[in-house]
Amino acid sequence: MTKTTDPKKIDPCTLVLFGASGNLSRVKLMPSLFRLDAAGRLPEQMAILSVGRGEVTREAWLADIKGMLDAKFKKGYDQTVFERFIARNHYHANAPTDADAFTKMKANLADEKVFPQNLAYFLSVRPVDFAPVVEQLSGVGLLDETNHWRRVVIEKPFGTDLASAQALQASITKHLKESQIYRIDHYLGKSALQNIMLQRFTNTLLEPIWNKDFIDHVQITNTEMLGVGERTQFYDSTGALRDMIQSHILQTMALTAMELPKDLSPDSIRAEKIKVLEAIRPIPVADLKHNAFRAQYATGEVQGEKVPGYLEELGDKTSVVETYAALKLFVDNPRWQGVPFYIRTAKRLHDADTRISIRFKKSALQLAGGTEQNWLMLGIQPRECIKMEIQSKIPGLDIKTRTIQMDAANRQDGDESIDAYEALLLNLMEGDNSLYLHISEVEAQWRLVDPVVKAWAVDKAPVCQYPAGSADPETSKVIFEHEDQFWRYSIELGGDKH
Ligand SMILES: NC(=O)c1ccc[n+]([C@@H]2O[C@H](COP(=O)([O-])OP(=O)(O)OC[C@H]3O[C@@H](n4cnc5c(N)ncnc54)[C@H](OP(=O)(O)O)[C@@H]3O)[C@@H](O)[C@H]2O)c1
Repeated sequence: MTKTTDPKKIDPCTLVLFGASGNLSRVKLMPSLFRLDAAGRLPEQMAILSVGRGEVTREAWLADIKGMLDAKFKKGYDQTVFERFIARNHYHANAPTDADAFTKMKANLADEKVFPQNLAYFLSVRPVDFAPVVEQLSGVGLLDETNHWRRVVIEKPFGTDLASAQALQASITKHLKESQIYRIDHYLGKSALQNIMLQRFTNTLLEPIWNKDFIDHVQITNTEMLGVGERTQFYDSTGALRDMIQSHILQTMALTAMELPKDLSPDSIRAEKIKVLEAIRPIPVADLKHNAFRAQYATGEVQGEKVPGYLEELGDKTSVVETYAALKLFVDNPRWQGVPFYIRTAKRLHDADTRISIRFKKSALQLAGGTEQNWLMLGIQPRECIKMEIQSKIPGLDIKTRTIQMDAANRQDGDESIDAYEALLLNLMEGDNSLYLHISEVEAQWRLVDPVVKAWAVDKAPVCQYPAGSADPETSKVIFEHEDQFWRYSIELGGDKH
């Protein structure tokens, strides 16, 4: 199956980058745009207008961009591409004290020789600025689509709960249609995430067993060895549930559980993801302790190094914000009725791994006494792979089986390694929003996690502690539906034995 877009078929356009001097732009956006240019994927007529509060000359800004590229591409880069890329770049100072700043930006953008008139605005600014920037763009007519398209990218997070997400939506839809809004969940730009749907639906082998008749349960795991680092204040106002589960992990689950879309158009794919997200049963708050679990990392050892606990790093022993969050979810539809989805995310665990692990039901012989069950695993990062564990006879005189693992890497020598933002930026210019979130997805995700976030926030009892670098806390097992279910320790052979 193939789908590529000829850059000649992408409309000439200008990317207007708000917050271009910020961390995201330096580390991801500018380098991704450069790599797209190097790969010949940008339309020939494409300009980038960086917008910031500071008075910066174009020369100084171009020197700054060179610094960003030097920092990112330590092995160097092609000078011809660099010159082509740098010529696309411009800067506009948008002083917050200047009431006419947006009118001046409009006048600047009106120069058709420099700026193609289809405009994509990337709001890489603080979340509190998303709505005001849209309002100001609209106020000066810069969202008017009479002659050319206008698209707006909203960075993560889209709200901090359902009410704030709906308020942001109400505010921006005064000026924009849904089709003009591109809400980021950068996980969707990862090739390994896109592969979930493709592997499921392009392999006849998988679809017949991908349901409640064969599957015992599904685990979606995202663990890190890193702690919160410098971001203690941000993290303590967010927590693992909102930071990872509300967005990336629920999107991974949607791709794992969705039905076959009627075609690969953005609308059809998103329609199926929305259906499955809306079919997830609300988490019963009255019985939260059997459905949701939280914990915090304590002092411990990671890769031989002693590291402090979360509360010490934060300097506040009273925080109940979780660095480990796990949920048990059910999808109430014919395919998944009764199959638990255990999803978890953690900082400072023993392993850094993002994967989907599916345990199958017992076979006829296992029912008669054996214990091993088949696992199918999709590795997302660091390893992009598909692994299957099956039972097989140990050669010899006796009748004895053991688990063997079929292990296939999705990534092969010479394969391209692209950043998620490259795919997202390319799709933005193409007008393909399938890798961006629809408002119904965002709302369904908030609707699901909000009650847990609220219940956890008011429960000030000390939170379970796990030593940094350890496996899942023993008490997290309370969410399992059946006694024989357990967290799979790792994706490797034997990872079900810990
Ligand atoms: N960094 C990441 O990896 C990451 C990951 C996920 C989501 N995001 C989202 O992406 C967006 C940008 O993140 P970032 O890390 O690049 O942010 P950032 O570095 O803190 O700031 C981005 C830009 O916002 C402007 N800004 C900063 N403080 C401001 C203030 N007090 N008042 C007005 N403007 C201010 C600055 O632009 P000027 O000074 O040039 O005007 C700055 O370059 C945010 O919405 C964030 O939630 C980022």
